[in-house]
Amino acid sequence: MTVLVTGGAGYIGSHTVRLLQEQGRDVVAFDSLEFGHAAAVGSVPLVVGDVGDRDAVTDVVEKHGVDAVVHFAAYKSPTESMTKPHLYFGNNAAKTAAFIETLHALGVGNFVFSSTCAVYGTPEKVPVAEDAAVHPESPYGESKAMTEKVLSWYDRCFGMRSISVRYFNAAGAWPDGSIGEDWSVTVNLVPVVMKAALGRRGPLQVFGTDYPTPDGTAIRDYVHVLDLADAHVKALDYLAGGGSSTVLNLGTGVGSSVLEVLTTAEKVIGRPVPHEFVERRPGDPVALWADNRRAVDLLGWRPEWGLEGILSSAWAWHSTHLDGYED
Ligand SMILES: NC(=O)c1ccc[n+]([C@@H]2O[C@H](COP(=O)([O-])OP(=O)(O)OC[C@H]3O[C@@H](n4cnc5c(N)ncnc54)[C@H](O)[C@@H]3O)[C@@H](O)[C@H]2O)c1
Repeated sequence: MTVLVTGGAGYIGSHTVRLLQEQGRDVVAFDSLEFGHAAAVGSVPLVVGDVGDRDAVTDVVEKHGVDAVVHFAAYKSPTESMTKPHLYFGNNAAKTAAFIETLHALGVGNFVFSSTCAVYGTPEKVPVAEDAAVHPESPYGESKAMTEKVLSWYDRCFGMRSISVRYFNAAGAWPDGSIGEDWSVTVNLVPVVMKAALGRRGPLQVFGTDYPTPDGTAIRDYVHVLDLADAHVKALDYLAGGGSSTVLNLGTGVGSSVLEVLTTAEKVIGRPVPHEFVERRPGDPVALWADNRRAVDLLGWRPEWGLEGILSSAWAWHSTHLDGYED
């Protein structure tokens, strides 16, 4: 089985590529390199191309004998998508629909798709389970929900099986600090904490201290990128074993507040992280964490990393790569 990993030079993709390689599986990375880094892919073959390019996809599938796909390639900023929705409907939804059709025409099934907890918008209750209502609050979330629908129709029409994995907050890095998240493009909390700690930006802004949570700050479910990578490998095995299409939450099932992230970071780093308390940001849900029982039951997946491991691996990467991949 050769696995095609689109977005394989990006943050979560590169960790998944490396895990597949370490397990001795055949893997090929495919990335436009708009946001990815060739150095993140290591010695795995990397094909530079766009998932919407039928010829390029056909070429890589035929040359490498691809029979399974993990599809990470996408734009990922809900905030940006509110001002540039066309980018998200174009790159994430339309190009992915074309990509799925290309794969179908080539007879490739077994498709694992990077979806997001943003498809839930603000859920009515937490932990949020997969059967909660889907009502995204950004074109980004909508573009992912649209792709989930396309995939369910390709299953009904052609029997093309897929798993849509809805990530909560991906964080952390390869434990030896050799690959990690590109903090020049992300606004996720963990890299922003690291940037503040390393003096590469001003103080961390803690948005809102009057939420109805134990310490007043917002709560999210931080899941280690290696746990995510492991879930993808398990999802591929599940599909290869004949498993049926489904949607799975990938989160730890534990919520952590912004202050918990901050104090754990200070403990791991061994010094205070400059920060300031500011107003809530409009549109930020109070608390969001996953009911992950379906992924645990179906895949035998157990997230192994807690907040401390997430922050110490992120520190190992950021503190040794102040300029990221330097490309
Ligand atoms: N990081 C998170 O916390 C998070 C949470 C939920 C969902 N996701 C989803 O996970 C996936 C991966 O996220 P990430 O954090 O690794 O992002 P990333 O930006 O690091 O990686 C995405 C990669 O896809 C590539 N790409 C984008 N459009 C492409 C196209 N049309 N053709 C080929 N390559 C293309 C980019 O160059 C980049 O390397 C995305 O689909 C994202 O929406 C991420």
